[in-house]
Amino acid sequence: MPPKSILTPKPLVAGNWKMNGTRASLHEITVMGLSYDADLRRNVDLLICPPSTLLYPAATTALGTAIAIGAQDSSPKISGAHTGDVSPNMVLDSGGSMVILGHSERRTDHLEKDALIEQKASSAIATGLVAIVCVGETSSERQAGRTLAVVRRQLRGSIPRNATALQLVIAYEPVWAIGTGLTPTATDVAEVHLTIRNDLKKIMGKQQGEMVRILYGGSVKPNNAKELLSIDNVNGALVGGASLKAIDFMAIAETYRSG
Ligand code: PGA
Repeated sequence: MPPKSILTPKPLVAGNWKMNGTRASLHEITVMGLSYDADLRRNVDLLICPPSTLLYPAATTALGTAIAIGAQDSSPKISGAHTGDVSPNMVLDSGGSMVILGHSERRTDHLEKDALIEQKASSAIATGLVAIVCVGETSSERQAGRTLAVVRRQLRGSIPRNATALQLVIAYEPVWAIGTGLTPTATDVAEVHLTIRNDLKKIMGKQQGEMVRILYGGSVKPNNAKELLSIDNVNGALVGGASLKAIDFMAIAETYRSG
């Protein structure tokens, strides 16, 4: 499934390893690189976001494979007395080029709010990283019919005003679909992604808003990738569990093979 036209953004399949992986896991990146051939490289960008302990060795392992490496979070600050935090320039220095921000697990575990995520994204972008900003409703918000309102609020609150399409990626991840094996219907995904697209055009201007990649995330697996990735305004996936093994991650990426 090659990109639909030259006016649609190039798809991105991103892997989020979360708090999983040791140096022994880096082998998976080597294996991924073996099947990321010229045809796939033309049609889809690949990214792996390991835990911060593995950023530098993962970037070294990925050299020559065209697989990009990214972080799972970064501080709004550049340096200083912030024990335990990792700054965007440290991510860059370790060979990372992108960073996931505002993932629902950070919103829950670390009580991150939209305003903080916006500061992190601004700082990441100013440092030269691409910010992947995550949005998505909880199960109770969906049941209350508030999905679009929640996603729109998170989007407006979390993305920096002056970001361009090359600096920003949005990931729509319904919280109830993460790690559960549950996914929204194609109609539901299409509705949310179209809403995000229209809001991005209003916030960033039509041309920039059209070119931002909007990823779907939440229980993307080899057996449902084709359906989810062919939905309008879905420009790739943010993959958790299925990104830990090269065989699963590359089976998802294969969705974009020509012919
Ligand atoms: P999952 O996680 O693919 O394991 O559902 C997705 C994510 O949290 O990014």
